[in-house]
Amino acid sequence: AFVVTDNCIRCKYTDCVEVCPVDCFYEGENFLVIHPDECIDCGLCEPECPAGAIFLDDDVPESQQIFIDINAELSEIWSNISERKEPLPDAQEWDGKPNKLKYLIK
Ligand code: SF4
Ligand code: F3S
Repeated sequence: AFVVTDNCIRCKYTDCVEVCPVDCFYEGENFLVIHPDECIDCGLCEPECPAGAIFLDDDVPESQQIFIDINAELSEIWSNISERKEPLPDAQEWDGKPNKLKYLIK
């Protein structure tokens, strides 16, 4: 499955959700996740993310491995999102800042 990683936090551009053919994105306050059992590995979302936050599970960088579990956990409790919305107001400012996991609102 594909995985949403650190750089989505506090950006949440949501371009990704619009292209997903199986609507397997789930939304929290400042982050999105992919449901690993619903994702069909089509790869369409990966190039759509302006923040470069989406990776195939096998390609998730070492420092981001924790996000594989985070996507699995939070996709079970968050609500589905299938339509694009405005990014978070400070998205540009936060895009590219490292180690945003501490800001994740669950
Ligand atoms: Fe959806 Fe395809 Fe991205 Fe999986 S890889 S989350 S199925 S768009
Ligand atoms: Fe997040 Fe990128 Fe989607 S910032 S909301 S994974 S387009």
